[in-house]
Amino acid sequence: MRVVFGSDHAGYELKRVLMELAKERGWEVEDVGVHGGATADYPDFAHAVASRIGGVSDVRGVLVCGTGIGMAMAANRHTGVRAALCHDAFTAEMARRHNDANVLCLGGRVTGPGVALQILDLFLSTPFEGGRHYPRVAKIERESSS
Ligand code: RB5
Repeated sequence: MRVVFGSDHAGYELKRVLMELAKERGWEVEDVGVHGGATADYPDFAHAVASRIGGVSDVRGVLVCGTGIGMAMAANRHTGVRAALCHDAFTAEMARRHNDANVLCLGGRVTGPGVALQILDLFLSTPFEGGRHYPRVAKIERESSS
């Protein structure tokens, strides 16, 4: 299993902390950038991560910007990507159990490293519950006619 990480400048430090945890947990880690603290545009990295995720079951993504909001917006434009902005253990667990989220978004200016590590641990270890959630998740991809 592989985790692809991306961040802008506002998420760079937290991303580095999170990558260490993923490695410790035995995940193969890829970092698409940004590779330093210089100002960068978050959609570039959201698209780079999301394009490696859609439809691939053994790959997950982690995106960190200042709030996580822009990353989630951009990543969710990709077919097959279910990006969830999580703020605590509960939202992280539900994102996996109910939504089968395959990309985790975090705010480096919002969530401290302790909580962020707890969130990532849950995101990587919690299974999708399936059952009644399968058809609901399937409906996410269906285009709205209204
Ligand atoms: C960068 O200043 C900030 O706008 C960005 O990191 C992110 O929070 C956008 O959603």
